[in-house]
Amino acid sequence: MHLTKEEERIYEGEEGWTKKKAMEILVAIGDINNASELIPIASAHMSGVSYKTIGDAFEFINRLEGTVEVKSTLNPMGMDREKWTEMNISEEFANKQNAVFAAYKHLGIAPVCSCTPYLLEGGAPKKGEHIAWAESSAVLFANSVIGARTNMEGAPSALAAALIGKTPCYGLHLTENRVPELKIRVDCTLTDADYSALGFLIGDLVGDKIPIIELSSANSPSRDDLKHLSAAIGATGSIGLYHIQNITPEAFAARTEPAFEPEDKMELGTTDLDEVYAKDCEPDVIAIGCPHCSSEEIKRIYELLQTESKGRKIKQEFFIFTAREIKSQPQMQHIIEKIENYGVKIICDTCFVVSPAFENYECVLTNSGKMLRYVPLICGCAKAKLSRTDECVKAAF
Ligand code: F3S
Repeated sequence: MHLTKEEERIYEGEEGWTKKKAMEILVAIGDINNASELIPIASAHMSGVSYKTIGDAFEFINRLEGTVEVKSTLNPMGMDREKWTEMNISEEFANKQNAVFAAYKHLGIAPVCSCTPYLLEGGAPKKGEHIAWAESSAVLFANSVIGARTNMEGAPSALAAALIGKTPCYGLHLTENRVPELKIRVDCTLTDADYSALGFLIGDLVGDKIPIIELSSANSPSRDDLKHLSAAIGATGSIGLYHIQNITPEAFAARTEPAFEPEDKMELGTTDLDEVYAKDCEPDVIAIGCPHCSSEEIKRIYELLQTESKGRKIKQEFFIFTAREIKSQPQMQHIIEKIENYGVKIICDTCFVVSPAFENYECVLTNSGKMLRYVPLICGCAKAKLSRTDECVKAAF
């Protein structure tokens, strides 16, 4: 990979040990992937923040010095920074978690722990911008819905890119690697968690091929629908981009003439989606907010609670996960208070999957396709059952 004089200086250690190590990581990744050069990035998003997943590997971050070169944010950590005692998090875990958080913050990374940085003030990249994001759900949303360009970074590569302000130019940074390779026709009307179910199936089906998803004309997915679709595809698949006509900014752009018709075609319909919903476990907890809830989703849950409560408080444990910035919005205060009055707990900075606080349940009811995949793997062997949001709320009473 070609390095400029300045990049060579960094590689040789003339800008200090931290930047040397970061540059070594980027060069190694670039060389493996035949990147021609490093390109500037507009932002970075770091995974590997929860002490539950990173463990004592974070000690390495403590050795780093200096500050990041671009706007950088963090994925969810292992606890709510303000309510961790209420979550029965041990003091030992909390101390370790705070140390991980402090290590990232020390590098100038914004103390924002959310997997939806694109929902936050100034957090959405622009179309065509190069970024270096970890967190598969955010990568798929950034590439497919916004039209930004990022590879699926890991924790070390996202941090290295943040420290240098550049990333190797390969993979999804290049137009020729963003062309769809197969078509998936969806011949049913989708609402709510159907997008989670669809993403769950698509991720599994496509392997490493970028699909064009052809939705029937009755469908016009919202930003939250696409958030869930992206998260579920990222959970079961290994792609970082999908196309939907009229949504993905560059869909078909590379192949308008003649009209693009991939040879590989698949069809999905109601029967396929129904199979994703079919799980036989009796939920003992309800969890919504994977990826972190938008303010619109929280408002909708409030409306559903009003409809279903009939003066009652919830009987089943019920958690909503969101970004602290969203929970703190002045216009949300009244709604948050009302939701909590029903007995629902609103948790920030973390989520059901990456916190050790949620490992003692047997069956989790959720509207998230990503949780459907990850809960059985890393939440104390619990089962997960997918439901529409209104059914999740109904089940709470
Ligand atoms: Fe976010 Fe946690 Fe889901 S990091 S995408 S809420 S597993």
